[in-house]
Formats: sequence, structure tokens, C-alpha cells
Amino acid sequence: MTDAFVAALPKAELHVHLEGTLEPEMLFALAARNHVELPWPDVEQARAAYTFTGLEHFLPLLFRAASVLRTRQDFYDLARSYLTRAAADGVRRAEMFLGVQTFLDAGTPIGDQLDAVLAAISDARTDLGIDGALIVTSQRHRTQAAALEVLELIEPWRDRLLGIGLGAAERGNPPAKFADYYATARARGYRTTIHAGEDGPPEYVREALDICRADRIDHGVAASADPDLMARLGDEAVPLTVCPLSNVALRVVPSMAAHPLPAMMAAGLLVTVNSDDPPYLGGYVNDNYQAVHTDLGLDRPALADLARNSFRASFDDPHRIAAHLAAVDAHVRANQPPERAYRAASAAR
Ligand code: ADE
Ligand code: ZN
Repeated sequence: MTDAFVAALPKAELHVHLEGTLEPEMLFALAARNHVELPWPDVEQARAAYTFTGLEHFLPLLFRAASVLRTRQDFYDLARSYLTRAAADGVRRAEMFLGVQTFLDAGTPIGDQLDAVLAAISDARTDLGIDGALIVTSQRHRTQAAALEVLELIEPWRDRLLGIGLGAAERGNPPAKFADYYATARARGYRTTIHAGEDGPPEYVREALDICRADRIDHGVAASADPDLMARLGDEAVPLTVCPLSNVALRVVPSMAAHPLPAMMAAGLLVTVNSDDPPYLGGYVNDNYQAVHTDLGLDRPALADLARNSFRASFDDPHRIAAHLAAVDAHVRANQPPERAYRAASAAR
């Protein structure tokens, strides 16, 4: 059960893979619509298969399931469904990843993918009041040449895209492999994120900063084992998009109680809490806030700090960030325990 404070806390979600938001019900509906065979007979058995030994066990299943997405309507429905859920979770700003190569392989042109997601973002801004933005990701188990091809393919949409990122199998595919991809993207004006230090070593986080010069690190939890790197991330205020339930589900950490999030907060890092691939890896953004509250003992002021960090770490414009931060403050004031609210009111008289 989500605590009412968490449920209505204004927040940004900065680490969610749209293909990783495909609920099993929609998975089966799209498989039927597009005549794609699935390895499971029904929704229950698909859900039962969502138990993973690690990232490299999870990724093939994610890609297989994602291959049911084929048409513009599919991509619109997927993005619409996530944005609807996110808006209901108090998400005011969602910077979403789409790993386009999986769908290009399945025969869906880039324009069908991007136009559909951008249309869903536009509609949701109007009728759900949520501000969405799209970050196109490449897959690091493929070559850098393939990632550079993605940059060429998305060129006509450049002005409507927020940024680029890099995901998939981290170990053995260090950030340095993608130096030119990041240099080219930066030169074209994209904001940049990179998965680093999820199941890879702290050295990959250093490469992400020194070689790729990424604006934001996705995960980065491996840094918690490296005091010098922790100090650097704090000094440079590098934003980190941490996904606690995903880290547990992919055995990046042995349990939620062992998650380094509190240590990262205590060290003054610009950490945020996000979902990654919600139906596969433990839940949506509020499930993650709730889990760090329940299992890590983060209290309401700490949860509010995480929400503030989510806006500060976003690629939104400074005026809107300021408005979101004011909304977090208002939410905190409106939810003060009664005696503190009384004292605050007396002091104001
Ligand atoms: N793509 C989708 N989820 C991912 C994750 N947790 N790590 C890397 N790439 C991903
Ligand atoms: Zn991710």
C-alpha cells in the first residue's frame, strides 16, 4: 500500500524504459494483434517468469517481450498507458527512454516509433497535466557504429527529442567503447545519460564522466564501494538515477535493506529514485519511494529531498524546476504532523 504522502508527492521520473513498461496484459493483447508468438501460454505464466538472476538474464526476456510492439498505435498505447499511470503516481515530469534498435530489428520504422511516442507525450501534457520528454537509447552490446547510425536516423526529430542514452549489457561494454557516440550527440545539442555502475565496476562510472562526459549517470550504485568516486560525484553534483527495486530484482544488491541509497544521500550525492522497468522489476516509481521508506527507514523529509533531487536532476528548464520545487515544499507543509503545523501557524500570527 502506498502511503498518502508518497502517492501525492510531486516527483519527476528520470529513469524508465518505455519498452520496460509493457504490462503482461498489454503484452498478450499486442502479441495477438500483431500475430507474434510468445514463449508463455498466458499472463500468469509470463508474470511467473519475471524472476531474474541478473541483468544479463533479464535483457533477453525484455527484448523478446518488446518485439510484440510493431505499429504506431502500439507505441502510442504503450506511452499513453505509462503516462497515465505516472500522472496518477504524482509524476509531474517524465524523461523516458526508448531503445529504438529492438524495434528497428522487428521492422518498425523509426518515424512510427518516435511520432507515436511524441504524440502520446503531447496528448498527455494537455489532458493529464504531465510533462513528458523522450531520450533515445542505444544498446551497448552492439557496436558504436550501430549507435552512431541511431544518431543519423533520429536527425529529423532532433528538435523534439530531449537526449540520448545507452543501456543493455554493461559488463564487457565499457563507456569508452562509445566515446564518439557521446561526442557526436553532445555536438548536436542532445542531453546525455548513460547506464554505468549498475552491474559494472566503479571504473565504468569514471569513464562515463571522463570519456563520455555524460550529463547524468543511470544507476551508478557501484560507486558506493569507492570512497574517492563518491567524493567526486558529490563535489561535481553529478545526478544519479537510482532504481532500488530494480537493483534488488536484478541482484545488484542482495536485499533492499542492503541498498546503498542512504549512504549515497548521506554523502550529499544528487540521487533520485526511479523505476527502470516497472512490471518486470518490482514496481512503479511510488513502489520504489514506498520501499525505501519501509525497508530503508527514509522518513518524509528524506522522501521530499529525493523528490526535490528528481526535479533538480531533470533536464527541464530552470523556471519549471523552481515551480516543481515549490510544489514539493507546499506538499510537505500541507502534510506536516498536527503539532508542527500548529507551531508554524502560531509563528506566522
Ligand atoms: N534496459 C532496460 N532496463 C535496463 C537496465 N536495468 N539496465 C540496462 N539496460 C536496460
Ligand atoms: Zn535502465
